[in-house]
Amino acid sequence: MLSRFKKIGLIAVLAVSFVGTAMASDSGGYEFKKYDWKHAGPFGVFDKAQLQRGLQVYREVCSSCHSMNLVAIRTLKDLGYNQDEIKAIAAEYTFEDKLGDDGEYSERKGIPSDTFPAPFANDAAARYANGGALPPDFSLIAKAREHLSFFRPWASLYGEDYIVGILTAYTDAPHGEEMLAGQNWNPAFPGSKIAMAPPLVDDHVEYADGTKATVEQMSQDVAAFLYWASEPKMEERKKMGLKFMIFMTLLVILLYFTNKQVWKNVKKGQDIDPTKL
Ligand code: HEC
Repeated sequence: MLSRFKKIGLIAVLAVSFVGTAMASDSGGYEFKKYDWKHAGPFGVFDKAQLQRGLQVYREVCSSCHSMNLVAIRTLKDLGYNQDEIKAIAAEYTFEDKLGDDGEYSERKGIPSDTFPAPFANDAAARYANGGALPPDFSLIAKAREHLSFFRPWASLYGEDYIVGILTAYTDAPHGEEMLAGQNWNPAFPGSKIAMAPPLVDDHVEYADGTKATVEQMSQDVAAFLYWASEPKMEERKKMGLKFMIFMTLLVILLYFTNKQVWKNVKKGQDIDPTKL
């Protein structure tokens, strides 16, 4: 018979796995394609060429609707740009500066410490321009849409795979579905009706490195870029984790031999007289 303690433990494990499974099964039935991201896994590092292509897609396509309020332009050095290139990218944007005597704001060119400028003055203006729907901010979108299931790892969904899914899943609405003006059929989106028109078509951007700009390629590139934006310090985190594991392994080996040394004069089953220690 199981002891009471073990029974309680077993019930707790079953309850947690049931809740975990129930929470994991809300993906709506769309089969997301799982890509082989270079930055995934414990040793994953960012593919800088891909991040640069993703930045290009963001700047040339998505940034007209989606803001990225928390990402400073200077952090683009992670993507392999040098200081002059970053200054040049920042200078392509203009920002409102001081309020002048005429009641108008003067303008200034962007500098690396600026964050990417938002396309709309506020959420109300963003909704007004998009038929009532709000294009979400992109600073943390890859993390915000990630779904990690501990008990059913195969049911986990990376934010990057979700983003590629959204960008590539557009099809015609099934017969009989009632669509409101401005709605598009996209089975990857919860509810399948999305207010974003398909933002990409083949060859929408022209990549400097000669990569063919198919919709799937651009989607993967921008998804990888958005993952970087949501966790720019991923490489440091993984390196730190590795160092920690190496340190812990050495510590365990050391403690094992220390333990052996300490107990070497005591035979198995022998009583220890504390007064003689
Ligand atoms: C013309 C404006 C516009 C452009 C350009 C645009 N989007 Fe959107 N996007 C929207 C709107 C509006 C929504 C909200 C849709 C809704 O709630 O139904 C949205 C939603 C999304 C979502 C779903 C977010 C969620 O809540 O799960 C993703 C992902 C997304 N956009 C990615 C992109 C990417 C990547 C690009 C660039 C390749 C892009 N969008 C370009 C307007 C746009």
